[in-house]
Amino acid sequence: MEKHFKRTTVTSALPYANGPVHIGHLAGVYVPADIYVRYLRLKKEDVLFIGGSDEHGVPITIRARKEGITPQDVVDRYHNLIKKSFEEFGISFDIYSRTSSEIHRQTASDFFRKLYEKGEFIEKTSEQYYDEEAKQFLADRYITGECPHCHNERAYGDQCEACGTSLSPTDLINPKSAISGSKPVMKETKHWYLPLDKHEAWLREWILENHKEWRPNVYGQCKSWLDMGLQPRAVSRDLDWGIPVPVEGAEGKVLYVWFDAPIGYISNTKELLPDSWEKWWKDPETRLVHFIGKDNIVFHCIVFPAMLKAEGSYILPDNVPSNEFLNLEGDKISTSRNWAVWLHEYLADFPGKQDVLRYVLTANAPETKDNDFTWKDFQARNNNELVAVFGNFVNRAMVLTNKYFDGKVPAVGELTDYDKEILKEFSDVKQDVEKLLDVFKFRDAQKEAMNLARIGNKYLADTEPWKLAKTDMTRVATILNISMQLVANLAIAFEPFLPFSAKKLREMLNLQECDWSRLGSTDLLEEGHVLNKPELLFEKIEDSVIEAQVQKLLDTKKANEEANYKANPIRENIEFDDFLKLDIRVGTILECQKVPKADKLLQFKIDDGLETRTIVSGIAKHYSPEELVGKQVCFIANLPPRKLKGIESQGMILSAENFDGGLSVITPMREAKPGSEVK
Ligand code: 2FM
Ligand code: ZN
Repeated sequence: MEKHFKRTTVTSALPYANGPVHIGHLAGVYVPADIYVRYLRLKKEDVLFIGGSDEHGVPITIRARKEGITPQDVVDRYHNLIKKSFEEFGISFDIYSRTSSEIHRQTASDFFRKLYEKGEFIEKTSEQYYDEEAKQFLADRYITGECPHCHNERAYGDQCEACGTSLSPTDLINPKSAISGSKPVMKETKHWYLPLDKHEAWLREWILENHKEWRPNVYGQCKSWLDMGLQPRAVSRDLDWGIPVPVEGAEGKVLYVWFDAPIGYISNTKELLPDSWEKWWKDPETRLVHFIGKDNIVFHCIVFPAMLKAEGSYILPDNVPSNEFLNLEGDKISTSRNWAVWLHEYLADFPGKQDVLRYVLTANAPETKDNDFTWKDFQARNNNELVAVFGNFVNRAMVLTNKYFDGKVPAVGELTDYDKEILKEFSDVKQDVEKLLDVFKFRDAQKEAMNLARIGNKYLADTEPWKLAKTDMTRVATILNISMQLVANLAIAFEPFLPFSAKKLREMLNLQECDWSRLGSTDLLEEGHVLNKPELLFEKIEDSVIEAQVQKLLDTKKANEEANYKANPIRENIEFDDFLKLDIRVGTILECQKVPKADKLLQFKIDDGLETRTIVSGIAKHYSPEELVGKQVCFIANLPPRKLKGIESQGMILSAENFDGGLSVITPMREAKPGSEVK
């Protein structure tokens, strides 16, 4: 039986305050969360919408160091920019606060202390890299060195961005501190861990048995984490930016950003409602819903629930609607490569067109799989749907009513069978839209709302009231009454999706408030109701405007390539004899397969002319095994063998690395005998 809830707490992921927000954020989290919250409010449900900036973590300190400012300067700048962007796009938070606030420090410290006192943590000492010059432990991102897989010399302690392999700092060859440049040493350090393994049993039952209704991508990711077995997770870090670990003997240590960030939802609720926040977090009759992106699933479905359960007095999330990713013109959105449509830039280029972007991002929402945003699609959806269907219908109905009935809603006469059919077609719209919104299917719900306008357009085209005006004004009155009822329904149905346009439409209709309960009614506007002047709801976007946006992205690509080239200048000359030391050969790929539990690695068997050698290479993200078997490659044959995931690799396959990180394996132009030397 469905559980009855008294109220709903909706949270949306707290974005890191180390850059502005872009369309990927909006599509993945904030627009769907906002649609949902607006919908609940329209149904007069008790709902709270919590947002805020995530202001801790290593990337913020790196940015500050790079710019020569303090981490607080960084987050002040971006928190305000992000907050403004959300306001401008109508994301209707009840509060948008931040994790550098005092109330958050207090709340997160208390939370940690309570778990500490209850014995919910384990303490462990481990060895970590330490910079003796800078006198500090080094976060993974602060250690650079040579990647053991592709030998890129600028790999980070957590990842090599050239070959995409996840690393741990001790994997790096010749590690260096990014702070002082010195060689780091291993030093013991103590941290607190949340023993997730101890929570595994109830998490399994809670998610895998009791929340089968979660989206398949969310459920699937949880299942695979649980099936792999959970490990204790460190909840503290050696860092000087964050919330100090509030227990003795923890000098120089702060809470791990993923420990304090979700507590930010609670702190922000407290800040908004100091006297009544608890009922939004602790009453079993409250439903908690987290809107997030897919990279946040484990933290919201496993780690945070384990923290809440360990604390003991909190409710757990009822659903965690997570989207997949939105790409931009075929490439992954990237803040560091400036490959994004930034919200503040969009608004500068398309002032007043918030709803167009909201519409397109929902129509194309990455609900079940990654989706692509293209400017062409943006233009097509605006011109062919918002303008040609929605705007056109509204405008025709209003202009005709103005022309024939002086802007007053005419009386409805006798209904034809066709009229009845049309009225019936939209009488279920409320039920249809609600059914979809209740299960977080925003894309389909918006389509259902748009269907009203399609029905209206078809109705006007079929009945052609302008032709009847000379002969049968009673009939024209009926047609326009029905049309105007449809227009009024549009104003209600689009309220959660396109709040700016719905408001404008309501003003045109001279309707004071939006009564969701009456959606689908055929008497929203009474006979004689006076309409205001029609205005255009949407306008066509010309090719030149779209071309300018595409050009802007092409310019970004070019700038990235140039920057990359500058960052990778041709190295200094070497002696010819040094070159001769490299033994590069041609080989034919006999077999190729994925390396289990390593999503970046492929294992090859290669005919090198003499024998079959095994090579492991980090190119699984760029090639599938099938497309490689039978092909020829060039490889370095005289590197010392190296073990990767327990497999001994006897050489290194050569690839060209594109500026965007894509890899293209080097192959001879004509077939060569296996074992041929490359010189
Ligand atoms: O992935 C991110 O952008 C994180 N800052 C999300 C945090 S969500 C919550 F836990 F605060
Ligand atoms: Zn690498």
